[in-house]
Amino acid sequence: MKEIGLFYGSTYGMTETVARKIQSAFRKFRVMLHNVKDASADLPEKYDFLLFGTSAWGIGEMQSDWENWVFSLGKMDFSGKKVALFGLGDQKKFPDSFADGLGKLYSHLPDKSVVVGEWPLDGYSYHASLAEKNGRFVGLVLDENNQKDRTDERIRRWVDQLEKEFSD
Ligand SMILES: Cc1cc2nc3c(=O)[nH]c(=O)nc-3n(C[C@H](O)[C@H](O)[C@H](O)COP(=O)(O)O)c2cc1C
Repeated sequence: MKEIGLFYGSTYGMTETVARKIQSAFRKFRVMLHNVKDASADLPEKYDFLLFGTSAWGIGEMQSDWENWVFSLGKMDFSGKKVALFGLGDQKKFPDSFADGLGKLYSHLPDKSVVVGEWPLDGYSYHASLAEKNGRFVGLVLDENNQKDRTDERIRRWVDQLEKEFSD
């Protein structure tokens, strides 16, 4: 079975919980979980399929464990790889920087052509988000603070989409 490397950063454990749900939702791929806090920054090179997840912090920032990591990612050769991103945020408390961590993470990727897993904006209510590009989110957006009840269904749909996009 093909492997996916899922790398996440999580402060209160919400992104970690979601990462485990994403791991369980895949049927055709085996997902290996790595907390960026403990993993070496060259580990993503080992995988052809990658998932990167972050929460949003401090108005417009990624989860802090990603800070060191993203600079290594900037030097990585992504040719032949496929990458999908997911981000957590709180649209009620931070409507002007909703899921900005996801947008920041995306902006650090040196080659955007490898990114799959875009996600529609429908069903969220906020004013501004760095995760938005051309009327779509650059990856799956989840809000465990206000829309926890929608998380499982969003993950199911996104993973179904990714199993196709990773196989194309
Ligand atoms: C100090 C602080 C700043 C935050 N900043 C943002 C933000 O700018 N945008 C956003 O959408 N969510 C923001 N959040 C919400 C978190 O991203 C959200 O609760 C997330 O689920 C936390 O996930 P984690 O436990 O995996 O780190 C913030 C939360 C805190 C406590």
